[in-house]
Amino acid sequence: MTIDAHTGVPAGSSALEAETQRVGHSIAGALPPAARHPIQALDGKAMQLASADQELKAALFRFVDVVPACRSMDDLARHLTGFLHEVKHPPAPLSVAMRMADSRAGRAALGAAAAAGVRHMAHRFIVGEDPRAALPVLRDAWKRGVAPSVDLLGEATVTPREADDYASRCAEALTTLTAATAQWPTRPRLEGDSHGVIPRANLSVKISALTPLLRPHAPERGQADAAERLRPLLRQAREAGAHLHIDSESLDTRDAVLDLALRLLAEPEFAAGPSAGIVLQAYLRDSPQMLHRVLNWARDAGKSRAQPLTVRLVKGAYWDHEMVQARQHGWEVPVFDAKADCDANFEDLTRRLIDANGLVRVAVASHNLRSLAHAVAYNRLRGGTDADLELQVLKGLGDGLAEALAGCELRVRAYCPVGDLVAGMAYLVRRLLENTANDSFLHDQAAGVPLDDLLSAPTPSHVLAGRP
Ligand code: 2OP
Repeated sequence: MTIDAHTGVPAGSSALEAETQRVGHSIAGALPPAARHPIQALDGKAMQLASADQELKAALFRFVDVVPACRSMDDLARHLTGFLHEVKHPPAPLSVAMRMADSRAGRAALGAAAAAGVRHMAHRFIVGEDPRAALPVLRDAWKRGVAPSVDLLGEATVTPREADDYASRCAEALTTLTAATAQWPTRPRLEGDSHGVIPRANLSVKISALTPLLRPHAPERGQADAAERLRPLLRQAREAGAHLHIDSESLDTRDAVLDLALRLLAEPEFAAGPSAGIVLQAYLRDSPQMLHRVLNWARDAGKSRAQPLTVRLVKGAYWDHEMVQARQHGWEVPVFDAKADCDANFEDLTRRLIDANGLVRVAVASHNLRSLAHAVAYNRLRGGTDADLELQVLKGLGDGLAEALAGCELRVRAYCPVGDLVAGMAYLVRRLLENTANDSFLHDQAAGVPLDDLLSAPTPSHVLAGRP
């Protein structure tokens, strides 16, 4: 058991457990009935197929890798069926689809059918084709006590022109959001914490969309190229008083992205702003070391900045990708494979972040009620106010949860993807894959696991095995 040196609140202490249960029950009590089954938002058939078949999952990954290079639905259908041909025993509906792809007309029909299926799923997750179209949904959420972070869909760019396009879409999004959010009604809970004002306009970007040159073994060129597009966005966000959040992606670019973000934010021209953030992925075994690094930066280079760095703690969305990569290359698996180990690490990192609340702003992003309740409980026991803890969910999967959190007067933000279907494909496949994992929290919740079990403390595998 770790005991926090400053607060004396032990991890797993009875006081923390009791408060976690109490908070968990009150959030659960505020959930609207439909929120108990958020994964119904995902296409049922696609879910069933992907859960049942490992080869199909692998085909979907390879498909996601080529999506950025696809120009049209015809292109998408051709690639999709190409990969599906590698599945040895395709389920009946897929065999039909694959036969259709043999002709151009068939591909067009298949493309249209796939597009209709994906569109159905996508409109729950993607709030609009562009930021302007998304504004009514964003404003409505704000009015109900849920702040948005707009994520401009796009990643893994392959040409400089695409990276330029992405950068100019980001610039446009900042302009649109800054103007629109200025007209929104006041929501004090969403607009300030003990560090000061929290910007209304909040944009999340992926560095792999800002450069086609990001290579794990030679990061410098990609970083320099991305910096050319990121610096103007940081300047614009600073002038507009907006928040810019730099997402984490797969592990192969994690260090390059983090180095770049921390280096740029430490430049003197960004000392006065903007408000900015990075992401910490708890499924990575080395995430405690990464947090250590980020906190050292915050104590040192980050200290001269007017707004503290926001750290968004997430489980991580590339789990299957990391497993497949590591197995293919014979690498040590970088992610926790047992859910309880990942959940326990998430809670350790939560406590360390909350302990560091004077240095960084803390955002805890999860659909796991236990993880959220634990964060709220620990923050309260440590003497913090709810205003100093942001909770985040994904639009489409966490809508009911966001409503419940807002109903409990907690500060909540929804991650709201904006963009077209082709750009959103990889995002949607990640949602599909993470929710077909049989041990996901949402899966257990939908399967009717009792609330007390859902809220029970994760027992790490070394404890189960009797090791210290
Ligand atoms: C993703 O793009 C939510 O940033 C996360 O999957």
